[in-house]
Amino acid sequence: MIKVLFVCLGNICRSPLAEAIFNDKINKNGLKHHFKFDSAGTSDFHIGELPDERTIKCAQHYGMPIKHRGRQVNRVDFREFDYILAMDEHNLQNLNKMKIQYGFPEKPIFLIRDFVEESQGLSVPDPYYGGEEGFHEIFKILDQSIDHFLQKLKERHQLYA
Ligand code: 4NP
Repeated sequence: MIKVLFVCLGNICRSPLAEAIFNDKINKNGLKHHFKFDSAGTSDFHIGELPDERTIKCAQHYGMPIKHRGRQVNRVDFREFDYILAMDEHNLQNLNKMKIQYGFPEKPIFLIRDFVEESQGLSVPDPYYGGEEGFHEIFKILDQSIDHFLQKLKERHQLYA
């Protein structure tokens, strides 16, 4: 079982959308049985909340059901998840601080866009203060990033449907 955690700031926009896209892709590829996955935020701003309405609308537009409640990254996540994927540099820095504080200094944390060679070091922009078009933009970025991430996992873990 490979365990994947998607992380952003609020856990109501980028990371729940990433989780929905990942779910869709592993279902379509017949790979669901290989994975446990979830999403979380570095902040406590939206604990217990449904994803942002614009996130839900965007996911529905692409035919992906979205079902999540906001939660904050916690200590257990660093032990539990094999791949912790941050949406931006700010999340990455926070996670790198948290992992030391929680006693997992060796845990690798990845930027989700690093799996696309030409996007290494880039962030998934925070769409919260923008309009709906920003959600379609992050959808495209996440869709591509997750395709590359899954390809890497298939090779590294020799996954078959
Ligand atoms: P997310 O977006 O990190 O992609 O879920 C945000 C959600 C909420 C806030 C910021 C970003 N906020 O400041 O409340």
